[in-house]
Amino acid sequence: MILCFSGTGNSRYVAKRIARRTGDDFMDLARWLRNGESSELVAEESLVIVAPIYAWRLPRIVEQWMRSATFGPQVRTWFVMTCGDEIGNAAKYNYRLCEDKNLCYMGTAGIVMPENYLPMFDVPDENMAARIIERAEPEIDRVGERIADGKPFPVPRNTLKDRIKSSLVNPAFYALCVKADAFRAGENCNGCGTCATVCPLDNIRLQNGKPGWGKNCTQCMACICRCPRKAIEYGRRSVGKPKYYCKAELTNDETKNL
Ligand SMILES: Cc1cc2nc3c(=O)[nH]c(=O)nc-3n(C[C@H](O)[C@H](O)[C@H](O)COP(=O)(O)O)c2cc1C
Ligand code: SF4
Ligand code: SF4
Repeated sequence: MILCFSGTGNSRYVAKRIARRTGDDFMDLARWLRNGESSELVAEESLVIVAPIYAWRLPRIVEQWMRSATFGPQVRTWFVMTCGDEIGNAAKYNYRLCEDKNLCYMGTAGIVMPENYLPMFDVPDENMAARIIERAEPEIDRVGERIADGKPFPVPRNTLKDRIKSSLVNPAFYALCVKADAFRAGENCNGCGTCATVCPLDNIRLQNGKPGWGKNCTQCMACICRCPRKAIEYGRRSVGKPKYYCKAELTNDETKNL
């Protein structure tokens, strides 16, 4: 089974492409996260977790969900992490998670996809994003091939800098940056509700025809990037930047609404 968490579609695209190669079922974690539910996946022989990297580790919300879920013993588990740049020392924490959950760790692979973290970084425009995805595709297929063959991933790079980012910067990032306080909908908002529908944590409510953000935000960027009217900003830090969403993962009909 392939389990996927995705804010702006990169990881969903990668997960679906791997699923086509391995023939595994594909499931979106939002299905459980939106209701705050855990799950029992006892009968699974193998598990592929596909998720974005957040501050050089698995998103906390995904780790927490995995810790609360029930898996069969020694299920072979691969982690495929999409990133804008690099995955740091995420592998160490994924290995530890597998040990704690009695899963058989099969490795962590990073796939460079378009950057989506508007509050801090530049985000590629549509043409540049398409080129980055095209460059990523052979690597996604190699990763899918290894999973289909039941092989572990090669051990990723692990420098002192990688270790510092994943161990020290990660908790500081969560403490200081991961909140919804700065999201605002501007005058362009027509109250369509798309932002509330796409939030994987059900953290947005429409009040008097405008979205209001709650406290349960993981900064996945789905709301700001999927708004059809480009009405959402994150303080001043997102102003003027492209609102990125991975069009490759959408059907033609869905693309028309972006
Ligand atoms: C909260 C947050 C933190 C991020 N941290 C990192 C990071 O540490 N390193 C990196 O290379 N990319 C980082 N990114 C970029 C995403 O990992 C990357 O764009 C990913 O492919 C997005 O996947 P998605 O479209 O499935 O949500 C971060 C993005 C977000 C939203
Ligand atoms: S998706 Fe955009 S236009 Fe629709 S309700 Fe949310 S902010 Fe308003
Ligand atoms: S409020 Fe926006 S950024 Fe936060 S989890 Fe929901 S969709 Fe993602």
